[in-house]
Amino acid sequence: MDTSLLAPVMPVRNRERPPLVDSFGRTISYLRVSVTDRCDFRCTYCMAENMTFLPKRDLLTLEEMERLCNAFIDRGVTKLRLTGGEPLVRKNVMHLFEGLGKRLGNGLDELTLTTNGSQLHRYAEDLFTAGVRRVNVSLDTLDAEKFRTITRWGDLPKVLNGLQAALKAGLKVKLNAVAIAGVNEREIPALMEFAHGEGMELTLIEAMPLGDVDQDRSAQYLPLSKVRASLAERYTLTDSPHATGGPARFVTVAETGGRLGFITPLSHNFCASCNRVRLTCTGMLYLCLGQDDNANFRKVLRETDDDDKLHAAIDRAISLKPLEHNFELDEHRARVAVKRHMNVTGG
Ligand code: GTP
Ligand code: 5AD
Ligand code: SF4
Repeated sequence: MDTSLLAPVMPVRNRERPPLVDSFGRTISYLRVSVTDRCDFRCTYCMAENMTFLPKRDLLTLEEMERLCNAFIDRGVTKLRLTGGEPLVRKNVMHLFEGLGKRLGNGLDELTLTTNGSQLHRYAEDLFTAGVRRVNVSLDTLDAEKFRTITRWGDLPKVLNGLQAALKAGLKVKLNAVAIAGVNEREIPALMEFAHGEGMELTLIEAMPLGDVDQDRSAQYLPLSKVRASLAERYTLTDSPHATGGPARFVTVAETGGRLGFITPLSHNFCASCNRVRLTCTGMLYLCLGQDDNANFRKVLRETDDDDKLHAAIDRAISLKPLEHNFELDEHRARVAVKRHMNVTGG
């Protein structure tokens, strides 16, 4: 795969470059970039406690990431999300936000990030200045002790401060909570009331079997259909046509006036409308979160300055995008779908 990405190509002028369409007819308009696999938390559904991170020499530089992101924008990617690990622990990551922010209104509609919130108090204003308008913050519980148990290393007050800083800076906030059976199951109403009370959205996510996390995956799995049914006993939920370009399906909650999203990769497969690909911090482009198909862009970026060759490599990579992920739901549902942990592809 590596070397064949760099086959000879005909020169093409920028404005003539065609949009990215995969072999199943899906247009790719959303690139997620994991800028680091490192994180200051160790969430139990995401990582094992003792993780070996990638050596720094293997990382793409921020300039290489920017070049590749720009190439994707030239091909019709309108939404960019920086993820991690924790994106805000990557040194000088604000330079990347600033550089990419220049493409807003010039190809790019949205520049955003998914963060654990631990550094938001420090960066919220700079993110807004760079053009970010919306952030997704992972928060699974409002109980400080439970927060520590789930994240192993996290500090809840710091994250809550970060949320306030984000709101104060003018950023819209969406909270992401992974629904974990027997852990935060009963707190979901409280999380929702908190989010909606502060003018934030909440999206619930089913835990996916990515990587070995020293815990029983089947014990973590809580179908969101069950959560929705139990919320519907206390709240009036109405299906909403709202869409973010992500996989969540939304309801409005009459009692809180807020919006609640459900991301259901296990109980309901949304791959038919998939519009995204994921770049890792070492330059591997993964074509699906739940499959191994990938292309090595670090090699391409370092072997050629020729943009036509880079675009031809992007075309070849997109043609590898598989039809769907395959998280098994029967008695084998705890089976690890892919070996890499979530912090490699950033969700
Ligand atoms: P919005 O722009 O707010 O819709 O964000 P998003 O849902 O695309 O991004 P976010 O980082 O908040 O994603 C939340 C989680 O949804 C991810 O971390 C994954 O756990 C899950 N997710 C997002 N995209 C996919 C996908 O293509 N496949 C699967 N299986 N899960 C996904
Ligand atoms: N399954 C589902 N969601 C996960 N996240 C991390 N690991 C998993 C997993 N195994 C979530 C985080 C964050 C987003 C990037 O992915 O909580 O919201
Ligand atoms: Fe870090 Fe996010 Fe993984 Fe938690 S889920 S360990 S915050 S990368």
